[in-house]
Amino acid sequence: MSRLRRWFASSLAFHAFPVLLVMATTVVVLVGCGTPTTNSTATPAPQAPAVVNGPPGAALYTKSCARCHGSSGQGKGSTPKLDTVRLASLGDQPLRMAIAYGKGEMPGFGGLSDAQVTELISYLKGL
Ligand code: HEC
Repeated sequence: MSRLRRWFASSLAFHAFPVLLVMATTVVVLVGCGTPTTNSTATPAPQAPAVVNGPPGAALYTKSCARCHGSSGQGKGSTPKLDTVRLASLGDQPLRMAIAYGKGEMPGFGGLSDAQVTELISYLKGL
């Protein structure tokens, strides 16, 4: 037994023991720190809904147009009603021009994309 102990005391295993202990602790710490990262990738972050409620163009109309044209195109103050029959008879191009560059008292909305204008026009026609 004492021979074995003497062997152990002089052996590499004995001298390496503190080093092994430090390494083992490091591994535990690293694994401990790594766990939350793994968890957060496993749980998807909440994302903004891709589809806005209501028909396309509705949210944009409410935000940019309703203050003058009314919540359903009925007109407000000096702004005339958005008459769907008239809008259909005008054709899309004059409507695009009115929205992009303005008309009379209406300001232009040049910052809108083509797709947004198209959505607005189909929304107006369905009012
Ligand atoms: C500041 C008030 C105001 C805002 C905001 C506004 N409009 Fe107008 N809009 C008007 C007025 C006033 C007219 C009538 C212009 C005229 O014929 O002289 C008009 C006319 C129009 C017409 C032409 C109708 C026709 O019979 O020729 C369309 C289409 C229209 N607006 C769509 C929109 C859309 C879409 C938005 C939002 C992106 C919007 N408007 C925002 C005031 C506004």
